[in-house]
Amino acid sequence: MSITQDKVVVVGAGLMGTGIAHAFASSGFTTVLVDSNAEAADRSLASVAKIMVDGVRLGKVDAAAAIAAKARLTTLADLAEAAEGAALLVETVTENLAVKKQVVSTAAPRMLPGALIATNTSALSVTEIATAVADPDRVVGMHFFNPVHKMKLVELVRGLATSDEAIAKSRQYCDAVGKTSIVVNEAPGLTTSRMSAMAGNEAMWMLQEGVATAEDIDTALRMGFNHPMGPLELGDLTGWDTRLSVLRYLHSTLGDKFRPCPLIVKMVASGRLGRKAGAGVYRYDDAGQRIAGSGLKASVL
Ligand SMILES: NC(=O)c1ccc[n+]([C@@H]2O[C@H](COP(=O)([O-])OP(=O)(O)OC[C@H]3O[C@@H](n4cnc5c(N)ncnc54)[C@H](O)[C@@H]3O)[C@@H](O)[C@H]2O)c1
Repeated sequence: MSITQDKVVVVGAGLMGTGIAHAFASSGFTTVLVDSNAEAADRSLASVAKIMVDGVRLGKVDAAAAIAAKARLTTLADLAEAAEGAALLVETVTENLAVKKQVVSTAAPRMLPGALIATNTSALSVTEIATAVADPDRVVGMHFFNPVHKMKLVELVRGLATSDEAIAKSRQYCDAVGKTSIVVNEAPGLTTSRMSAMAGNEAMWMLQEGVATAEDIDTALRMGFNHPMGPLELGDLTGWDTRLSVLRYLHSTLGDKFRPCPLIVKMVASGRLGRKAGAGVYRYDDAGQRIAGSGLKASVL
């Protein structure tokens, strides 16, 4: 039997759940999207439809395939009902341990025997989430990236109890939805957040020390290493408040090499949070476009 005949339940119809549900439905899986907020589920279906329409318009997806994919995706408010007969659950609800444990403990007994339970958590412990189910060996981290329809990577996270079989099955699901998976043992920041936090922090230290202007630091990484964005541009996009909380967490768990650069602390205190605030390392106009030459320089810090 093909893996795409498996029933998949995605719990949490927010930013990530929308992308994940789209990925499974458009790869042939019967997909049920669950959210405790009916409006969120409706908004999510509309967003999935938009991704599909854009895909057809750009010639990336065949219209008939998009219509078939849309038909494979349904929503349900009741998690227990949705979980009946499911082979895979991907929880992507709000980043809160108690909420996530509640979701997996409700779903687990209703799914197929041995079904896989995946969490898309960015920073919580897979090992701890797994304590909410009777057989924690089938719980795995499946960390997708935003926007899911564009980003190829999934970090599979092995908790203390996660079995080899669960990792192997997770890899099959990632292959089936066209993603490249890597396996990471549970650790703060996994691979991506840890590297990205380090690069963004180091770029800020260089800016603070006057090593180069913001524009030149970003150009160095884009042109010298072929990164699609520089670390300061990326920090503006992510938000320096989010960056700072990740850095503080990594500092507390991994030590002094993640000590947040004081310039980040100062920027967050002053409200220069990034693109969403109209100003971060760079300034942005009302349309969210970067204003040329607006990058911070050591001389003005
Ligand atoms: N935003 C990102 O870039 C990103 C990237 C990777 C991983 N993540 C992780 O993905 C998860 C979701 O993030 P998001 O940005 O999509 O959040 P979001 O706030 O956009 O969506 C969360 C959704 O979960 C729903 N929800 C909350 N409790 C629920 C419950 N008990 N049952 C059903 N639905 C419930 C909410 O109504 C909401 O629609 C988090 O764990 C986050 O850390 C986020």
